[in-house]
Amino acid sequence: MFIDTHCHLSYEDYDDIDLVIKENCKANVEKIIISGCSKEWISESLKLADLYDDVYVTLGYHPSEVDVVTDEMLNDLKKQLKNKKVVGLGEIGLDYYYGKDNKEKQLELFEKQLKIAEAMNLKVVIHSRDATEDTINCLKKYNVSGVIHCFSGSVETAKIYVAMGYKLGIGGVVTFKNSKLFEVVQAVGLENIVLETDAPYLAPTPFRGQKNSSKFIPIIAEEIGKILNKSVQEVASVTTNNAYELFDLR
Ligand code: NI
Repeated sequence: MFIDTHCHLSYEDYDDIDLVIKENCKANVEKIIISGCSKEWISESLKLADLYDDVYVTLGYHPSEVDVVTDEMLNDLKKQLKNKKVVGLGEIGLDYYYGKDNKEKQLELFEKQLKIAEAMNLKVVIHSRDATEDTINCLKKYNVSGVIHCFSGSVETAKIYVAMGYKLGIGGVVTFKNSKLFEVVQAVGLENIVLETDAPYLAPTPFRGQKNSSKFIPIIAEEIGKILNKSVQEVASVTTNNAYELFDLR
């Protein structure tokens, strides 16, 4: 059995969510964790979690929301995080890909949410793009742990996160020809990996560029198995166990 620990399931991207869930089950992906990371997605994710037993959520404001998030919204978030289907706070973090103009604001929003995670004893799901050093420095200030979502850094960076107690979220990028994740997966091993799709984005090869879905998780597992010379069953069993323990699923 597989778990997709990070996807964005919403009616905006999928017409028939019942069908998506059915297809997931057929592919042996029995549980999914939706990342609700804007105001609208947070409410929609909670509704879907309410509707489907095997849908869990992490909630938090993505760095791209930095200009719209108010203190009132963060207060609401604290209440929303108390929902029993919530398994973590995220995705939150830093994104300097489009520039560092709003770096201070991003850092402020990130730290406010890390503070909430620490106070509520919630795992964090981290988005970090072109911002490794600042991300690590922020995380070190708080007593939190969780997942580095869509990890794409160096082996050295991977080892730092693992030493800090984080798992690496590995998805479709591992199947891309130009991906540098081969060395990373080899260096950290199965015990430090959780599987994710980030659907509808980042579909694995041979579906690259198309709409992604949790049902493609086995393709990612197969690639990781090839890298580590392990069977898909073993990849499934270890990564699912990692996800269960990390997010305290049952
Ligand atoms: Ni995401």
